[in-house]
Amino acid sequence: GPNSINILLQAFPLLLQGALITLQLTLFSVFLGLIAGSLIGIARLSHITPLRWATRAYIDFFRGTPLLVQLLLIYYGIPAVVQNLGLDFSFNRFAAAVVALSLNSAAYIAEIVRAGIQSIETGQSEAAESLGLDAVQTMRYVIFPQAFRRMLPPLGNEFISMLKDTSLVAFISLDELVRRGQLIVAQNYRPFEIYAGVAIIYLCLTLLSSQAFSRLETWMNPVKRK
Ligand code: ARG
Repeated sequence: GPNSINILLQAFPLLLQGALITLQLTLFSVFLGLIAGSLIGIARLSHITPLRWATRAYIDFFRGTPLLVQLLLIYYGIPAVVQNLGLDFSFNRFAAAVVALSLNSAAYIAEIVRAGIQSIETGQSEAAESLGLDAVQTMRYVIFPQAFRRMLPPLGNEFISMLKDTSLVAFISLDELVRRGQLIVAQNYRPFEIYAGVAIIYLCLTLLSSQAFSRLETWMNPVKRK
C-alpha cells in the first residue's frame, strides 16, 4: 500500500479543515467564557448572599460534572424539553458545542477571576477609597487591571485545556479535528498515520498558544516591556 508519508500528506488538508473548527470552537468558547466568567467571578465575591450562593452552585455544577455529559445534556436534552412543550426546535451542532464549552469554561474562568481579585492586597482598595473612588471605579481602575495580569498564566492554561477538550464534541458528530481523523481512518484503515497526524496538529496548536500567551504576559507587564 501507499507509504506513511503519502497517507499523511493526503489526509493533511482534511485534517487542517478540522483543526480550523477546533480553533474556532476554542476561541469562541474562551472569549464568551471570559465575559461570563468575569461576571460570575465578581458575583462570587458579592455581599449579596443569594448571588454568592447561586454562583457557587453554578461553578460546582460545571466543574463537578464531566464536560461530555454537559454537552450531551445541552445538545440532546434541551431540544427534547422544548419539543415536549410543543415547539419545533433543534440545535445546530456548532451552536450547541459553543454553548456547552462556554458555560463550562465560564466556571473555570470564574475561579481564576475570583482568585486573581483576592490576590490584590487590601491596601489597594483602601487607597482607592481614600482617593474618593466608589466600589465600581475601584474594581474597574485599580483592582481589575492589576488582577488581570496575575490571571494571564492560568487563563493561558485554560485556553490550552479547552483547545484539547473541544475534541469531546466529536461525540455530537461535529467534524472538528478528532472526528475528521476518525472519518478518514474509517476509509483508509491507517489509524497510526492519521492519529499521529492529529496529535502533531494539536501539539503545534498548543505550543503556538502557549507562546502567544507568554508574549502577552511580557507585553502586559510594564517592567518587562521596556
Ligand atoms: N476534562 C474535564 C471534564 O471533562 C474538564 C473539561 C473542561 N476543562 C476546562 N478547563 N474548562 O470535565
